[in-house]
Amino acid sequence: EKRGFPNYMLKEIHEQPQALRALIGDCLIKDEGDVLLEGLGLDDEALRSFDRLCLVACGSSWHAALIGKYLIEEQCRIPVDVEIASEFRYRNPIISETTLVIPISQSGETADTLAALREVKGRNRRVVSICNVIDSSIARESDGIIHTHAGLEIGVASTKAFTNQVVALYLLAIRLGRATGTISRNRGLEMIADLTELPDLVEKTLKLDFNAEEIACEHLTACDAIYLGRGICYPVALEGALKLKEISYVHADGYPAGEMKHGPIALIDRDMLVFVLAPRDRHLAKVRSNMEEVVTRGGRVIALCSEGDEETGKKAEFTLSIPWAGETLSPLLFNVALQLLAYNFAILKGKDVDQPRNLAKSVTVE
Ligand code: M6R
Repeated sequence: EKRGFPNYMLKEIHEQPQALRALIGDCLIKDEGDVLLEGLGLDDEALRSFDRLCLVACGSSWHAALIGKYLIEEQCRIPVDVEIASEFRYRNPIISETTLVIPISQSGETADTLAALREVKGRNRRVVSICNVIDSSIARESDGIIHTHAGLEIGVASTKAFTNQVVALYLLAIRLGRATGTISRNRGLEMIADLTELPDLVEKTLKLDFNAEEIACEHLTACDAIYLGRGICYPVALEGALKLKEISYVHADGYPAGEMKHGPIALIDRDMLVFVLAPRDRHLAKVRSNMEEVVTRGGRVIALCSEGDEETGKKAEFTLSIPWAGETLSPLLFNVALQLLAYNFAILKGKDVDQPRNLAKSVTVE
């Protein structure tokens, strides 16, 4: 059932285009610049009644939530809080009647996320979950659901489920923005057009010759890695770092590139591997100067740039050219490249990518 792949993780990475098509499927209302999310159970009037969203999750699902914050706040102009479930549940959180709480979980069984949901439900607040397992506890106990349709994910590292969580949030942004009027029909049409191209672009990204194996080979002895990104690429940096640490056991951290000067830059030397996410978005000039700072201090930079940008990565040891999918969706393609890099590191180190040590696919105990 690995369909010719050596492990589930690589199979699931390559299943992303089809998983995306399954999610997007027929929920797009193309003429209207809107989407149909029947499982939400919220009509336009109900959606208009919320003045805040609260996304609650753990691990990669929390990273997806962070991306969701950038995209929903930008498109819908509604404040979005993002909470780590294990912190949220014990904090006696403040949730007003006009807050929509959205737990995000691949498995639907994560203990902390489920406990957070129960805490919120106990206060009679509305909960809509984003979940990949339709008959899971989280899906069942929510008032509404956006099913991520990624299919069964067996590898412990979240890959296709993460991608579909982000797209589920993108769909929610369109629905919410159309209901509240912050997204015009034309803007909705543009967002849908970008989304429709995404599965093919993921396919293209998967086929690119990244030298992922060569990069991993060259840096196999590295013990530490930093991932830098700005804006919507900051949570992608966190996700890239988590992927590397959980399957290859290389210590890795993600930072907002602008935070470098506030501490992490002290770590930079020849032994520090630095992945820089540099799409051609509004932050490019700033990210380039962060990259310069790393290079000047002897850090070994692997730059991920947008296709056609020959300049940004010039001083890096390696440059990966990533297709362009617009400011909002390009980060997902960068993430696919980071998945492949982490995968190659782990395989060359001889690690079991599907069952990394000490980890379980679904964390059902605290
Ligand atoms: O099933 P969930 O999405 O609730 O799981 C949350 C985390 O345990 C999960 O994302 C974990 O961080 C993954 N191993 C990351 O690859």
